[in-house]
Amino acid sequence: MAESEAVAGGSPAAQAGETRRPGEHPVRILFVGDVVGGIGRSTLLDCLPVLRERHSPTFVVVNGENAAGGLGITPKNAEQMFAAGVDAITLGNHTYHRREIYPYLETHERIVRPANFLRSQPGKGTCVVEHDGVRLGVINLSGNLYLRAGRSAFTEVEVALSELGEVDHVLVDVHAEATSEKVAMGWHLDGRVTCVLGTHTHVPTADARVLPGGTAYITDVGMTGPRGGVIGVKREQAVEALLTQMPVRFETSEEDPWLMGVLVSCSQRLRADSIEQLLMPRPPQPPRAG
Ligand SMILES: [Fe+2]
Ligand SMILES: [Fe+2]
Repeated sequence: MAESEAVAGGSPAAQAGETRRPGEHPVRILFVGDVVGGIGRSTLLDCLPVLRERHSPTFVVVNGENAAGGLGITPKNAEQMFAAGVDAITLGNHTYHRREIYPYLETHERIVRPANFLRSQPGKGTCVVEHDGVRLGVINLSGNLYLRAGRSAFTEVEVALSELGEVDHVLVDVHAEATSEKVAMGWHLDGRVTCVLGTHTHVPTADARVLPGGTAYITDVGMTGPRGGVIGVKREQAVEALLTQMPVRFETSEEDPWLMGVLVSCSQRLRADSIEQLLMPRPPQPPRAG
């Protein structure tokens, strides 16, 4: 199937594909949904050069909560993403699956876990990254419905916003199960942040748009991983678990990997001109020698 791109709310300037001069708008933010396992990591690494060539993103932000074998992230996984030019990594309910990430979350500035986790839990919920004098604040939030988060996303986002200080743009990754919470967060922050982008369900939604106040919104950007499985898991294992109602060991599917994300284009501070959904199959691999 061909990759697809749908643009919502695109201004003529944004669609004309002009290039950004240092320190000036427009700014383009590429946000990539949950990277699942080794197949997701290699899909990200293979797709990023193509997306850079095509869209010249100013910033690249990636949700990495499933990077390590489908659950959690290791320092090595994070370093690999940063080495590929990822500016910031967001996380979610699987943040603490791998213990080796705990000290890394405390010492590395550009990786964030949900801001509304307990203050006692390792890591922080906000960071600021900068390119050519443009400052992007990144906030990670967890939904409170069906997910374990110690504090309210709706009250803690105010604290998170105040932590950012002077920034040109703000990206909020709202990692949540319930669509209602994500839609409500979009409205709650409309006009105050550049984009509210949903993650966690691993399934992209068809509601990308710029809200009336100028905030780009989508309920879920989808995942970067195998479409041939069940939200990342080998499909026969997922089906067996549902069929038998017994414990089944889950492994990450390797079938039909795609990168899923969005590109947010901006020409004014804290406002989006457009949000474009990016659904891209992993580029074909050269045949192995021998
Ligand atoms: Fe996920
Ligand atoms: Fe999640």
